Amino acid sequence: MPISVAEFDYIRKLVYDRTGVFLSEDKSYLVESRLNVLAKETGANSVSGLVAQLKQKPFSPLHKPIVEAMMTNETFFFRDVQPFEILKTFIIPELLKKRQGDRTLKIWCAACSSGQEPYSIMMLLREYFPQLANWKVQLIASDISTAMLDRATSGIYAQQEVNRGLPTAFLHKYFQHCGHKWQIKKEIRQSIEFRQINLTESFDFMSQMDIIFMRNVLIYFDIQTKKSIFAKVRRVLRPDGYLFLGGGETTVNLDSAFELVQFDKGVCYKLR
Ligand SMILES: C[S@@+](CC[C@H](N)C(=O)[O-])C[C@H]1O[C@@H](n2cnc3c(N)ncnc32)[C@H](O)[C@@H]1O
Repeated sequence: MPISVAEFDYIRKLVYDRTGVFLSEDKSYLVESRLNVLAKETGANSVSGLVAQLKQKPFSPLHKPIVEAMMTNETFFFRDVQPFEILKTFIIPELLKKRQGDRTLKIWCAACSSGQEPYSIMMLLREYFPQLANWKVQLIASDISTAMLDRATSGIYAQQEVNRGLPTAFLHKYFQHCGHKWQIKKEIRQSIEFRQINLTESFDFMSQMDIIFMRNVLIYFDIQTKKSIFAKVRRVLRPDGYLFLGGGETTVNLDSAFELVQFDKGVCYKLR
């Protein structure tokens, strides 16, 4: 049975209210196919039965996996290459000089999905900046989805996942076999703090960060939500810190407090 307009609208509102993710009309097929799987998993007879159960309470343990299932979790190691080149060539060397005094480096990787992005950052730091071993390096990796955070914390990836973007030398150096899969080594896993953070909620508990990666998540938000997130990012980014967004995302025309920093082949943002 195809999903009705009223059922689709209910799911859309639920997802928007909880996450800020806006599901456009053309996503109804996606919602329907994911709800079909969840209807089977939860023992509801049909999508309509599942939605009827959801409607009985404003938010229950049943709502959480439904909301999480509507997220797009696409990610891979060293995605887009350039942000990592910029980190390696310009930003980390600059911060190594600037933060000589307190020898502290704080990085937040927001909306980290299954963890490939923060692990890419940590491998880069280990590989090219061994002097950071004597620094206090804090890398916080967050996502709204507890299912994704569980995967990220485990650090276990299938062969096809480690084939995407990860240099072979890094696979052999930083991972070990785990059955038919690969697991990133414990010392790397334990050097990252995984936390559940909803970007539509307050960031007041966050300390100021030197670098923020917030990539390929803002594209799912409407203009108002993006603006309110940038206003919060402003407060947790150090005055000389750097913000990385996804290729289809920008602060331009949304928040004039940020300026674009152009590098050879890529860009990032900093506060004016
Ligand atoms: C496409 S992935 C991006 C992963 C990674 N940053 C990258 O660029 O490869 C988007 C992630 O955003 C997360 N997400 C969606 N809405 C969120 C919110 N309101 N707060 C935090 N994370 C959210 C999803 O769970 C998903 O894992």
